[in-house]
Amino acid sequence: MARLYNGVFSLHGTWAMILTLFSSSFVHPFTPARIPRPNSSPHPAILSSSSALLSSTNVDHDAKNTNGLLSRESASLSSVDPDIQRLIGLEEDRQRYGLELIASENFVSKAVKEALGSCLTNKYSEGQVGKRYYGGNEYIDEIETICMERALELFDLDPAVWGVNVQPYSGSPANFAAYTALLQPHDRLMGLDLPSGGHLTHGFQTPKKKVSATSVYFESMPYIVDPSSGLIDYDDMERRAKMFLPKLLIAGGSAYTREWDYGRMRQIADSVGAYLMVDMAHISGLVAGKVVANPFDYADLVTSTTHKTLRGPRSGMIFAKVEMMDKINQAVFPMLQGGPHNHQIAALAVALKEASTPEFARYAKSVVANAKALGKVWLREVTISSPVEQTIISFCGMSNRRLASLDPRWNGY
Ligand SMILES: Cc1ncc(COP(=O)(O)O)c(C=O)c1O
Repeated sequence: MARLYNGVFSLHGTWAMILTLFSSSFVHPFTPARIPRPNSSPHPAILSSSSALLSSTNVDHDAKNTNGLLSRESASLSSVDPDIQRLIGLEEDRQRYGLELIASENFVSKAVKEALGSCLTNKYSEGQVGKRYYGGNEYIDEIETICMERALELFDLDPAVWGVNVQPYSGSPANFAAYTALLQPHDRLMGLDLPSGGHLTHGFQTPKKKVSATSVYFESMPYIVDPSSGLIDYDDMERRAKMFLPKLLIAGGSAYTREWDYGRMRQIADSVGAYLMVDMAHISGLVAGKVVANPFDYADLVTSTTHKTLRGPRSGMIFAKVEMMDKINQAVFPMLQGGPHNHQIAALAVALKEASTPEFARYAKSVVANAKALGKVWLREVTISSPVEQTIISFCGMSNRRLASLDPRWNGY
């Protein structure tokens, strides 16, 4: 029986098997009997034989203990793998005692880490809530539903107007899923150029190389910042859009320190019949804390990572108008991904709960205040020591968001 059960899983990638398995009310013919809970004190022999039904690979054949499975499940990292435990400890010290100024990183709470390190990592749940290709998803469905509800609530979104998919593994897959949903191969997209502060996944390429797959599968022309001011040149963006006629215009980036003019970008998108997408990966925590402009007022869809200013696990989200959600859901699964990372989704639910508190709003406010203070100091220092023009100096230190950027050209780079 154990062998047959494993056989089902080894076949799980084939559509024939998936179609057979697909039903929310499906009862798997090989579903193992429930293992009695520990407080009912089962005989150890019952536990080990029931567990063996789950999967023969669960049994640790090398374990000295006759209860091999139990000892493997309960043994701590320090006894199983001291090398990795030591390195994690060193990394924890590095993070705790070093000065981290990497804008795309953050520090999650203990509660988020507990959800990440939970049994949810064991579970397969391909599909959507209530429509899974595997049995046993009653709790996973509840977790994903809570996560989606919290995501919509956090950004004050009406579920009659907006939907969300919380299954993307991270920000880059979320963006690729959004493009897959909306565009055909070789359709055109336009985002902020990487050297201007944009992101790879917004179609980055160089004259010699299509660096991001988003420039291989789609045609990309970037818009840029004015090199003298460091600000996005919206007039130039409009000229380029009218020539290039993108089907998708993307706002958002990794190193753009100023507020976005979403209203102007909406007008530009409308003038060429493009969708407007905002990738708020870097600022989703600030949007939640209401300290920056709200992209949802203008965008057709909004993507985000969840591990930057939002202070959550490494994951991604795609928000879209409800009429687009079927296409978005299909693009995430089955077009691009397999089983959702349920431990991440649960941890994201926790982070979204944390982000809805007044404490988080205060945190978002202070992030902006700190970036501004840092920018001011840089500006003063660079102004004193720079041998170059004020125009280049003005490229640095003027942050009105959570980032301060410094243009190294003032120092001869
Ligand atoms: C604007 C933006 N979008 C997407 C991503 C991609 O996120 P991930 O690294 O999770 O794939 C990043 C990462 O830094 C980003 O800055």
